[in-house]
Amino acid sequence: MDKSKLNQLLVQMSLEEKIGQLTQFTPQYLGRENGELTGVLGDFEVEQVYLDSLGSILNADSFEDMVEIQREHLKHDRLKIPLVFMRDIIHGYRTIFPIPLGLGATFDPDLIEEMAHQSGSEAASEGVQVTFSPMADLSRDARWGRVMEGTGEDSFLNAKMSASMVKGYQGQPGILAHDPSRIAACVKHYAGYGAVLAGRDYSTVDFSRITLYQDYLPAFQSAIEAGAKLVMPAFTLFEGVPATASKYLLKEVLREYLKFDGATISDWGSVDKFITMHIAGNQQRASELALNAGLDMDMMSGAFVRGLKQAVAEGAVDVADIDTAVYRMLELKNDLGLFEDPYRQFGENHATNEVFGEKIRANARKVATKSIVLLKNKNVLPLDTKIRIGVTGPLGDSQKILGAWSSLGKHSDAVSLATGLQKQFDHVELIPLPTSSDPADYANIDVIVAGLGEREDDTGESACKTNIELPEDQVVLLKRLQHTGKTIVGVIFAGRPLVLTNVVGLLDAILYAWFPGTEGGNALADLISGVSLPQGRLPMTFPRASGQVPIYYNTPRNGSPANDQNPSKFTSRYVDCENAPLFSFGYGLGYGDVHYGTPTIDNKVLTDNRDIKIEIALNNTSMYGSIETIQCYAGSSITEIVRPEVELKHWQQVEIPAGSTKKITFTISSDDLAYVHSDLNREADKGAFIVRIGSSATNYQELSLVYR
Ligand code: IFM
Repeated sequence: MDKSKLNQLLVQMSLEEKIGQLTQFTPQYLGRENGELTGVLGDFEVEQVYLDSLGSILNADSFEDMVEIQREHLKHDRLKIPLVFMRDIIHGYRTIFPIPLGLGATFDPDLIEEMAHQSGSEAASEGVQVTFSPMADLSRDARWGRVMEGTGEDSFLNAKMSASMVKGYQGQPGILAHDPSRIAACVKHYAGYGAVLAGRDYSTVDFSRITLYQDYLPAFQSAIEAGAKLVMPAFTLFEGVPATASKYLLKEVLREYLKFDGATISDWGSVDKFITMHIAGNQQRASELALNAGLDMDMMSGAFVRGLKQAVAEGAVDVADIDTAVYRMLELKNDLGLFEDPYRQFGENHATNEVFGEKIRANARKVATKSIVLLKNKNVLPLDTKIRIGVTGPLGDSQKILGAWSSLGKHSDAVSLATGLQKQFDHVELIPLPTSSDPADYANIDVIVAGLGEREDDTGESACKTNIELPEDQVVLLKRLQHTGKTIVGVIFAGRPLVLTNVVGLLDAILYAWFPGTEGGNALADLISGVSLPQGRLPMTFPRASGQVPIYYNTPRNGSPANDQNPSKFTSRYVDCENAPLFSFGYGLGYGDVHYGTPTIDNKVLTDNRDIKIEIALNNTSMYGSIETIQCYAGSSITEIVRPEVELKHWQQVEIPAGSTKKITFTISSDDLAYVHSDLNREADKGAFIVRIGSSATNYQELSLVYR
C-alpha cells in the first residue's frame, strides 16, 4: 500500500480501534465459539471493539491456527487491518541451530546471517511474520540464565552478530513485502538487561551512561543500522526507571541518538510490572507512563486496553502520541505486505518454504560444527573411526541438547552424541551408568567419550544459578572413570560458561558443545572423527571459580593491579583464587599446530589520514589443517576516562592447510582507538597506543604505536 494511505486509514480509526491496534495477546486469550472469535478471556476481559481491532498475536502454535485467527479477525475488524503474528525464533524454528552463545563462538557473521535467513524462512512458512530476535544483550555474568541467548561478552562481536541476524531475517531493505522467506526482526532487550544484579533475572540494573553508550548500545545500534523493524525494551531499569517507561531510553537515545524509526513493543507484561515496582498504582497510570515514554505496543499486560482511553479522557495522554504509535504499527504491517496479502503468500494454494529439509539440516550441522570449542587436546583427537568407543555420562545419549527457546524444535529429532558417533565409528558401546572403575570391565573399550554438562532447563529465561560448576556427581563419575586408565574425551553441553577447574585434569580432551541443536550429535562426530576441524572460539571468559563472575576480558584498568605470578597484599585480587580465568575470551584450539610469526608494520605513526597496516605470517607445522581466528585488540595508553587496556577491534578467519604458511594483514585506523568519553562523544585520544595480535585475549604479541 502506498504509505500516504496509512494516514488515510489512521484518520478513520476510533480511539478504541487505535488502542486495540497497539495491543498484543497470545491466542489463548482469544475467546472462540464455533471458530468465531468472541472475546478476550480471563484477566484480559475487555470490550469487544478492542478485540476486533487487535493489533497483533504472539506465539500462535501452528500455521492453521494463524490462518484461522487472521481470517476471523478480518471478518470483524471494521477497517480490515490485518493482525501481525510474532514469535520467538531465537536459534531456529523447527530445525534447531546452536544456542546464540554458540553462534557467537563461530565468530562467523556471514554464516550466522545464513542461519537467520533459513530459520526465519522456516518460521515464515508457518505464518510467523516477526521474530523477537536478535537478543543483543551484552552478557558478562554466567550466572544469568539468558547468557545463552546472546553472543557473549564483547560488544564488538555482538554488534557484528546482531547486524548479521537482522540482515538474515529481513534481507535487503524493502524486500520484506515481496520475499516470503523473510521476516521482520525485533532486537531486544533494550538496554542493559544482561547487567542484572548478581546474575539474577529481572533484578535491578545500575550502570553509568558511559557504560550504556560504550558497551550496551553498540549491538543495538548495529541491529538498527541493519534495518531492524522493532525494538523491545528490557524488563529492567535504567537510572531507576523501567526501560519500558524510560523517556530517556525510548526517546532521547533510541529516536535521537540511534535514529530508530520503527516500532517498540514491550516485553511480556512489562507495563503491568510498573504496578509491582510501585511506580504506578493501577493500569491506567501504567499505560500512561509507557505510552508517554514512547512505547508503541503493549505485549500481554492488557494495560493499554484497560487504561489508555481514560488516560486520554483525563488529558494525561495526547491522542497525537497514540497516533504516532499506531502509525508505526501500520507501517510495520505495510512493510510486511500484509495489507495486500495478510498471509504473506502462505495461504491456501500458496508457496511453502522448506521446513526441516535437507538443506537447512545440513547448515544446522555446519553451524554446530563451527560453534563447538576444543578446550583441551592431549594429542587424543581426532579419533580413528576403527577405535572402540564407550559413550557415557548424563548427556552421552541425550536428545535434550536443543537448548532453551527452541521454538517448535523436537527433542525426538535431535541427534544425540552417541547416535552421531554410531553413524561414523565402527564400534560404539553405550555405558549408561558406569559404576565400576575396574580396568577389566573396560577391556573392550579404547576411548571413553563422556557427555557432561547442565540440563537444558537450567539455562534460559529465569534459569539463573549461584553455582556454575559442573555438577558434583559428574566430577565423581569422571574420577571413577579415570581409574580405568582409559583415555577420556569430555563433551560438555551447556548454556553458559561452566567452571571446569575440577575436571580439566580428569579429561584428556574437552569439546565444549554449548547446546548444539538438532544436528548436535552429527556435528560432534564430525569433529571427533576429524571429518571437520574444530574452530570455535570462546565468546565469554570461562572463570576458574563461580566467585569470579562477572568476569570478562575488557575490565577497565584499576589503580592497584594484581599480578597472579607475584601477588602482593593491597592489590585487586582474591585471597583464595587467582584473577586469571581458566580459559579466556577468544580461546579455542584446532587440531593443527599453528605458529604466529612476528608481526611487521608499514609505519609506526597513525594519523587521521594514514592507517597502519600490520602483517603477520601463520605457519601450520602439523599434519592437520587449521582454521584460525586471528584476533586484533587495541587500546590507547593514556585515556581521558579509565579504560580497559585493549578491546577487540578486528578478527579474521583463515584456513591454513597442513604444512603451509599464510600471511594476513590488519589495517588499524583511528576509529579503532575511539571510545565514549565523559561527554558521551566517541573519539580517539592522541598519543601512544598498543595493538595486540594473537589467538585469544590473553595469548598475543604486542606492538607499541603512536597516534598523532
Ligand atoms: O521475546 C520474549 C522475551 O525475550 C522474554 N519474554 C517473553 C517474550 C515473548 O515471548
